[in-house]
Amino acid sequence: FEKTKKELTVTPEKLNEITNHFVSELNKGLSKTGGNIPMIPGWVLSYPTGDETGEYLAIDLGGTNLRVVRVTLLGNSKFTYESEKYAIPGPMRTGKSEDLWNFIADSLDDFVKIQYGSAKLNSKLPLGFTFSYPASQNAINEGILQRWTKGFDIENVEGHDVVPLLQKAIDSKNTPVEVVALINDTTGTLVASKYCDPSTIMGLIFGTGCNGAYYDICKDIPKLEGKLPNDILNDDSPMAINCEYGAFDNEWAVLPRTKYDIQIDNESPRPGQQYYEKMIAGYYLGEVLRLILLDYYSQNLIFKNQDIKPLQVPFAMDTSFPSRIEEHSATFVEKLFLDSFNIKTTEEERNIIHDLCLLIGTRSARLSVCGVAAICKKRNYTSGHCASDGSVFNKYPHFKERAHEALNDIFQWNTDPKDYPITLIHAEDGSGVGAAVIACLTEKRLLANK
Ligand code: BG6
Ligand code: GLC
Repeated sequence: FEKTKKELTVTPEKLNEITNHFVSELNKGLSKTGGNIPMIPGWVLSYPTGDETGEYLAIDLGGTNLRVVRVTLLGNSKFTYESEKYAIPGPMRTGKSEDLWNFIADSLDDFVKIQYGSAKLNSKLPLGFTFSYPASQNAINEGILQRWTKGFDIENVEGHDVVPLLQKAIDSKNTPVEVVALINDTTGTLVASKYCDPSTIMGLIFGTGCNGAYYDICKDIPKLEGKLPNDILNDDSPMAINCEYGAFDNEWAVLPRTKYDIQIDNESPRPGQQYYEKMIAGYYLGEVLRLILLDYYSQNLIFKNQDIKPLQVPFAMDTSFPSRIEEHSATFVEKLFLDSFNIKTTEEERNIIHDLCLLIGTRSARLSVCGVAAICKKRNYTSGHCASDGSVFNKYPHFKERAHEALNDIFQWNTDPKDYPITLIHAEDGSGVGAAVIACLTEKRLLANK
């Protein structure tokens, strides 16, 4: 256990080393030649003012759920929304492309009927599509999937623009909806939060996957050359960037990967990709715990002479396992292991499992903020709110405190934690509202250009 503890502990020195390398990787991603981190321009070319108004639909395809949202932007940084959640059936993550688009279109059709009844609408309803995967964009209403992440593996989508795929499925149901914008969940979180809170400096997701978005300045993005008129390119126009920094350090220069992280990568549908995300994001935290336990078992250190078959199933523990174990103290483990895996635990084993969860959760929070700190360093942000969402941020015990402590390890603020100048703030339903605000900003820009 002491060896594992050492391997999972990230020291302040290591945090600084990672963050500094991260800054250079963010810059590389914006260069013409590019790098590991995609740094995708999101074609949101203005800051929301809070005065945007109008009614929009949004589809939010996150890691675990599909949500359909009807947002009314009221101006004055105010909005109302109604939403419906549709659980993504497990097998769909690795199923057929048509099944995914039909599932989304059916859910949308259901929602539109509930919201608007069967009344004939005069014009198509504009929809913002939050698609939380790396999708290249040359315009706001397109998104060419670079590669699936977070365990999704559906054939014939990578390399394709997902907007027409979705639009075709919507049209086949005769649902009066037009997809006008495609956005990432981080960009949605950024824009929605900025609509309500001008101190927002980035949008972050700590969930099934891990990623961040922020506003850069067009003239500081060399790879935009030739893609925008020169007057915009050469001034201080903002451009939202979806970093896709889950792909940080795929060449493995600085990350303190353990043999468990390496195994997760080797056995994933996309080995060699998302190294950073595979160490810290919700899709993987339970799996790290499971692999450590299997390793200890194979060395005859725990669960001696027991049949542990149910625990040998890949991903048998989702992130709620380490998260609940940490939350409930060692005694909770006894019932959990018995009920879920038919494994009896000794008191010592329960303590070890509890401590492992603490280490895994702490490592996740500490490593997660290296991306945040790198964006701050790159943009010279010395204060501001980082709008945050996702199941790990919202549910993993102590995540926020640990993340703040790690930020302090990097920036050395030497103040009381309540006075830290850069803080992670929970973003209330970022993506749906963000998609609506972006759809509105897009309409405004198109009208202005007419
Ligand atoms: C939700 C957002 O709250 O969090 C989604 O609305 C986002 O857009 C999701 O993708 C991320 O969390 P998770 O845990 O579902 O991956
Ligand atoms: C993965 C996706 C990214 C998304 C993140 C959080 O990293 O590639 O697009 O923002 O998960 O959901």
